[in-house]
Amino acid sequence: MTESDEGIRLQKVLAGAGIGSRRACEELIDAGRVEVDGRTVRTQGVRVDPAKAVIKVDGMRVTTAEAGLVYLALNKPRGVVSTMTDPQGRPSIGDYVENRRERLFHVGRLDVDTEGLILLTNDGELAHRLAHPSYGVLKTYVAEVNGPVARDVGRTLRDGVELDDGPVKADSFRVVDRAGGRVMLEIVLHEGRKHIVRRMLEAVGYPVQRLSRTYVGPVGLGDLRPGTTRKLTREEVGKLYRDVGL
Ligand code: URA
Repeated sequence: MTESDEGIRLQKVLAGAGIGSRRACEELIDAGRVEVDGRTVRTQGVRVDPAKAVIKVDGMRVTTAEAGLVYLALNKPRGVVSTMTDPQGRPSIGDYVENRRERLFHVGRLDVDTEGLILLTNDGELAHRLAHPSYGVLKTYVAEVNGPVARDVGRTLRDGVELDDGPVKADSFRVVDRAGGRVMLEIVLHEGRKHIVRRMLEAVGYPVQRLSRTYVGPVGLGDLRPGTTRKLTREEVGKLYRDVGL
């Protein structure tokens, strides 16, 4: 942050990041709602390097175009491996972003047979924190199993089940649909051990027939078609940062 003539005026950077008009951004600064590199800015005319400054509005991180950061959601189809390339030539996540110039990382993995939401970004620190168990980012899955499903299964999963590599607890569980003998279960977890949803449902007697991830933290799959990507919104990126304390 500088008061010399280097950098770009903060209200211009904020407006460029889609926060509002320059005038509205000046008002946010006047109101003490804008922070740069951990310090509240109340004076107009401060200049910042938009590629480097950590800017927050109401405590929520704002990303600038100049920082060159990209945040994408992919609906991974079944049969696609969760790597950027595959030496064996199988379809991989990288195939869906091969035209992008940035070097993207995928955040965590899904089994080949699991479909659904995978985040991709070139923001290394965010990717690291989202994938790291200590930050406990919630992930939501919808699993299809053969019904009927006993009433107490939810309680059992919330209380915790013992697996080979230790116990696991669902943060939440609910039946979302029943059709033709199949039951759709929604399970929320804050950890990501290998095959965790398949293993925990198997442990309570309901082998998974089909599995999809519908949310990573605050970001939802929505109606994103399998094999397509979308950019995350500014609000979604801000919430992801907040969830991992950035
Ligand atoms: N749990 C699983 O069993 N598989 C996945 O792909 C993700 C979570």
